[in-house]
Amino acid sequence: MGFKAIHELKKAKAEKRCISMVTCYDYTMARLVAQSPVDTILIGDSGGMVAAGYPSTIPVTIEEIIFFAKAVRRGAPDIFTIADLPFLSYHTGIDDAVRNAGRIMKESGVHAVKLEGGEEFAAEIKSLVRASIPVVGHLGFTPQSVNIFGGNKVQGRGEAQAEKMMRDAKAVEAAGACALVLEMVPEVLAGEISVALSIPTIGIGGGRLCDGQVLVISDLLGMNESFNPKFLKKYAGLSSTIIGALGEYDREVKERIFPGEGNIFK
Ligand code: KIV
Repeated sequence: MGFKAIHELKKAKAEKRCISMVTCYDYTMARLVAQSPVDTILIGDSGGMVAAGYPSTIPVTIEEIIFFAKAVRRGAPDIFTIADLPFLSYHTGIDDAVRNAGRIMKESGVHAVKLEGGEEFAAEIKSLVRASIPVVGHLGFTPQSVNIFGGNKVQGRGEAQAEKMMRDAKAVEAAGACALVLEMVPEVLAGEISVALSIPTIGIGGGRLCDGQVLVISDLLGMNESFNPKFLKKYAGLSSTIIGALGEYDREVKERIFPGEGNIFK
């Protein structure tokens, strides 16, 4: 069964238990996650891409995150759940950050929020924690900055970038974050950051030395056959299962096999 509260993150790290996290955006999938042993759920702004078909996470709104988060909380009410702060919901100052994060928590019932960025957002993280809003940090390839990075690129390569990421990680921890996502970061650097911090690191393309792992749920279930980044492992091939089932349904409807005797009201 999943984590119930924030302290289980640090406890897992202290006990050297690797943390499993998946993203989720809807009630039906959340019910399935709740029946699995997965520890925590992230309502990522990747939901904008996965569930709404946006080309990036940038168009995602606070209302959309709240919509996804409410659905997930209904499906998995007992699991520690984190929601992403969307692009520009925390970049315009501390007041906006607290107001928007507070609104997401109040309206959806999530337990924590996640924001992208390092030292430059330390003040926002501090203010959120002071307002009793737990924060998860996110460094490395931060998708809301895709236009600065010029694509989905590994971050933290080379001494200068690695030193900056280590500084950022320490600043995020010092500001009060309860965990840190490391996305598309060289394994050795992610490992060094994981050793340097007392809060758990959660990798996605961060290698084997992080304190936990997160994947986008539809990616790990193999629902998009054309999405195959190096860091992804597909644990099922649901796209072919679903397309196959739809083909079978279509055939049976057209051949008047479905509905059958057992599907009708007398
Ligand atoms: O939005 C998201 O799904 C994320 C994960 C990739 C960590 O931020």
